[in-house]
Amino acid sequence: MTEATTQETPAKPMTPYDRIGGAPVISAIVNDFYDRMEQDPAFKELRDMHAPDLSPMRESLAGYLAAWSGGPRDWFEQRPGACIMSAHRKLATPITKLTADQWVTAMHQAIDTHLGHDVPLATSMKDALRQMSIGMISA
Ligand code: HEM
Repeated sequence: MTEATTQETPAKPMTPYDRIGGAPVISAIVNDFYDRMEQDPAFKELRDMHAPDLSPMRESLAGYLAAWSGGPRDWFEQRPGACIMSAHRKLATPITKLTADQWVTAMHQAIDTHLGHDVPLATSMKDALRQMSIGMISA
């Protein structure tokens, strides 16, 4: 009797998006981030740079972070050629060290709240977003 051969398909490597927990956890982080921006006076200058209604931003940042972390690329497909760094250089209110620090602080708090159980993942995500934010300072 011959032994049955098993057809093994190579496992797809896990992306940061998968490890984060996909769309539900990204949405939770983004909503937490904008809730802090809306409710905590420590983020006043950052809040003042944004439109009164943050709902479109909640959707856009979640879509961006999904693609950025290796998940669905809808955000880029809907905005051919979009560059997040150039978009931030064209904002009506230029980004300063103060507002970049506020963005990073609110985002770090949101990430720690939802990914505190995976410290290496939370740390690499926070470090990468801090570097991007520093690169966005234009005044
Ligand atoms: C350096 C600190 C940052 C500041 C002060 C800042 C501020 C802003 C402001 C004022 C807007 C426009 C909001 C509105 O129209 O209501 C915006 C849009 C946006 N930001 Fe930031 N941002 C920062 C960092 C980042 C980073 C690091 C990312 C990506 C990881 C990001 C992703 C986005 C996205 C996806 C949009 C929406 C673009 C669109 O749909 O048109 N931002 N940001």
